[in-house]
Amino acid sequence: MNILEIIEKKRDNKKLTKKEIEYFIKQYTKGKIPDYQVAALIMTIYINGMDEEETANMTLAMASSGEVLDLSELGIVVDKHSTGGVGDKITLILMPIMAALGVNVAKMSGRSLGFTGGTADKLEAVPGYNINLSIDEFKENVKKIGISLITQTGNLAPADKKIYALRDAISCTSSIPLIASSIMSKKIAAGANKIVLDVTCGNGAFMKNITDAKELAIQMNKIGKLANKETICVITNMNEPLGYAVGNNLEIIEAVNSLKGQMPKDVGEVVLELGAYMLKLAGKGENIEENKNKIQETIKSLKAFHKFVELVENQGGDITYIENTIKFPKAKYEIEILSKKSGYIKEINAEEIGKLASKLGAGRIKKEDKIDYTAGVVLNKKVGDIVKAKEKLATLYTNKKQYEKAKEELERIIKISDEVVEKEKTILEIIE
Ligand code: URA
Repeated sequence: MNILEIIEKKRDNKKLTKKEIEYFIKQYTKGKIPDYQVAALIMTIYINGMDEEETANMTLAMASSGEVLDLSELGIVVDKHSTGGVGDKITLILMPIMAALGVNVAKMSGRSLGFTGGTADKLEAVPGYNINLSIDEFKENVKKIGISLITQTGNLAPADKKIYALRDAISCTSSIPLIASSIMSKKIAAGANKIVLDVTCGNGAFMKNITDAKELAIQMNKIGKLANKETICVITNMNEPLGYAVGNNLEIIEAVNSLKGQMPKDVGEVVLELGAYMLKLAGKGENIEENKNKIQETIKSLKAFHKFVELVENQGGDITYIENTIKFPKAKYEIEILSKKSGYIKEINAEEIGKLASKLGAGRIKKEDKIDYTAGVVLNKKVGDIVKAKEKLATLYTNKKQYEKAKEELERIIKISDEVVEKEKTILEIIE
């Protein structure tokens, strides 16, 4: 067997065997196949797809390409993962809430991918926060304070880590089998026994419509079952950015404010829905509405906020930034976008906002790009809101002097109509 034969087979739209998938994952992880050949294979998978069996085989091969954690000493661990979005700061808010409610949180988060942000990058915007703990430290932290948030360690699903970065560099992110296998391989290797997945749907997500989002959810549920991990998918709307802030330290500030009770409505809806199902899976309550009440109480009492402070402190972060978010550095240029007319906000295309934030410095255009934690966009309005002429629509944050084009772009992205605009639903469907 060799990689050329495997590429040719997939190029000609033929099904790959378990052995072929295992071979290329193993050899690529070992560095025995060059990036350009795997890039070609990934591109053919992106174009021709993979069936359920191939996707499951790829998931299991990637999960076992490195260490598979055994978290049984921690009892029930419920993991959460999002398929990616713009302004998606849910992990930062939801996981401290879960820990404050007694659910063990041992979560590995990803970095930005394509136009979407990554929780790992956002956490690194907190000075001192150590996202790269060893597995032993990770487990110790969960035992000590009930929560640890780190990034995927080098040895956990290393095949996914390499393929994930490669997909980003060759524009092959939005593929159902590639996303399903990427997420589920990490979740299987990370050792949680229950999983809640936020399957984002809309222009700011990899799944642009509900049919694809459902298909992805169903595939991930099936893989979960196969791996003996109870999995629930919540399909959420990602047609406009989640909340108001898009960009790394801007989102940390919004997450902190949310934990203090100032939570944007759509963010609150996603937090409540995902959290209620996580509590159910953790055996902390069968009734979804009652679980939502518990979550609200935990936010109101500031227990979740204090848990977040404890998490940051425990991982070496400077908590004075969390206690007083004004301390976060600001970008050199802060440009306000004012409305040219009165009306109703019709559209704020999340993908375009994500790409714009990335260009301003908040994301990576190339694999090796450094992130500017201060860059991004803060919206003042959401779709359906009323706006008056000359009212502030958004603020653009950047350290790049040539911001004029970005300003024009943002003015174009936020569309205003003379007619009343209905707000879209945030929670679209639950797939159990
Ligand atoms: N998140 C992941 O971990 N992988 C993907 O492919 C997309 C989102």
